[in-house]
Amino acid sequence: MFNQNLEQWLSKIHVRNMVNADVEVINQSPLVMMGKGRQGAVFQLSDDVCVKVFGNTEDCDREYYALSLGQHTNLFPKLYGKGPLYIAMEIIRGVDLREYLQSQPLTRTLSAKLIEMLITFKAIGYERIDHHKRQIYLQPDGSLKVIDVARTIWRDRVYPYPRKLLTSLGEENKAIFLTYVKEMAPAVYQEWLHYIRMEEISRQITAILLSQSSESEKVNSKNKILLTTDDEKNYAIMLEGLVHKVFKEEWVKLMLARGADLDTIMAKIDEYWDQRKLGATGNSFESVGRYEGDRLSNGNRFHDRGKRFEGDRGGHHHHGKRYEGERNHEHNRGKEKKQDKNKKHGVKDQKHDKKKGKNHEKDKDKKRPK
Ligand SMILES: Nc1ncnc2c1ncn2[C@@H]1O[C@H](COP(=O)(O)OP(=O)(O)OP(=O)(O)O)[C@@H](O)[C@H]1O
Ligand SMILES: [Mg+2]
Repeated sequence: MFNQNLEQWLSKIHVRNMVNADVEVINQSPLVMMGKGRQGAVFQLSDDVCVKVFGNTEDCDREYYALSLGQHTNLFPKLYGKGPLYIAMEIIRGVDLREYLQSQPLTRTLSAKLIEMLITFKAIGYERIDHHKRQIYLQPDGSLKVIDVARTIWRDRVYPYPRKLLTSLGEENKAIFLTYVKEMAPAVYQEWLHYIRMEEISRQITAILLSQSSESEKVNSKNKILLTTDDEKNYAIMLEGLVHKVFKEEWVKLMLARGADLDTIMAKIDEYWDQRKLGATGNSFESVGRYEGDRLSNGNRFHDRGKRFEGDRGGHHHHGKRYEGERNHEHNRGKEKKQDKNKKHGVKDQKHDKKKGKNHEKDKDKKRPK
């Protein structure tokens, strides 16, 4: 029946999504529109069948999938067909809850049906078990039917309680409904109450945070204390530490990729490092030997490499030489290449440092000249 003409009619209906508004509809078909929302417009096809035409395929797929999840229950319109931008489904009659509650009380029985509806939502796998009262229809036999289910699935974030339903009921009916929930499902009631309180507290905190512009002014006036580049001496230490950390991290990665057995070399590294520490005099950086990966490998290499950051060290002693280290770094690149041949050995050194980890870091900090 409707199938023969459906495609032809649909080609004459154009539905366009709008921003924060119902879809825009151009209908040049003979079909009568039953209603529309932000995702689509619904047209009557026959006494019992309507077609919802969507503005985009994702909304259409989503709603179809959500409806298909509930086809074995009595809660949703029956599905009759689908195209990229339309769903043919059963017409839901009856009276929606918004209209119904304008003149009728929210009874215990109706509340029980609403709780059952939420149970069904959860059971069929909806991620959002929440609906506005206008999307819930009371049938002549007293049962409920639900339309517009696309937003129940494929969600990232949902309220953990049926906030939309409760809010849409209005203060009075919300209180009545919650009284029945408390009676019929006390644990659920307690949980909802918990979330409602959390939400209220969050709202209060947000209001406080939004009103505290003086805090950001305080931050504005005091944030300079966090800067490190103004203090020549400290800057050199910081920069050296940063380079050291990156270097060490990269070296360890390389070593791990090579999959070498470390233990033997680790022992030698310890030995070597302990000797260096014993031999250390004064507070010279060479004696402290910050670049563990370097200093823990063969002696020459250590000295060459150690000099790499001399510019930074120079910074401690001679203000204004901050960038000399970078120049030295360039200068020493040639040497570095040669050293790369011995990398395997050095890499193991680094790994060992990592293993020894925090104590070394602490030691270094203690020994670092101020
Ligand atoms: N199966 C149906 N039977 C009868 N009427 C329907 C049916 N589906 C939708 N309608 C009517 O069409 C209107 C719009 O449908 P619906 O709410 O599904 O659109 P929507 O664009 O998804 O809405 P929203 O913006 O809330 O997502 C409904 O308010 C209702 O009046
Ligand atoms: Mg919708």
